[in-house]
Amino acid sequence: MRVTVCRKAHFNAAHRLYVKSWNEKKNESVFGKCSNEYYHGHNYELIVNVTGNVDPVTGMVMDLKDLKDLIKSEVEDAFDHKNLNIQVPEFADLIPSAENIAVVIYNKLVPHLDKEKTLEIILYETPRNFVKYSG
Ligand code: NI
Repeated sequence: MRVTVCRKAHFNAAHRLYVKSWNEKKNESVFGKCSNEYYHGHNYELIVNVTGNVDPVTGMVMDLKDLKDLIKSEVEDAFDHKNLNIQVPEFADLIPSAENIAVVIYNKLVPHLDKEKTLEIILYETPRNFVKYSG
């Protein structure tokens, strides 16, 4: 019996979408305001879905307290109130688009889960724009 447990989390972060090898004009034409050289912020909403077998003894897929603590240590502590381009090493040479942020979050969380579990990341950059990644 496989069930998905879900945890919502939140972080605020600044970023800039910018390809270093392009000039300002090209960056602005592709990324628009998101390429503003002074950065801009988003209120990111994160949903982490973990699917696994229900333990017959505990009745749980995983302890949601453990998932909460994992998201805090791996994502919130690393990203919240940070400039992603400058302060988060994963984005030193990777554009911090919502797509790439979701992949980075997935890659930070998945090593901590049992192999039988599957992980899905849903990341809202705005209330209407969101991305999903599940490996
Ligand atoms: Ni943006």
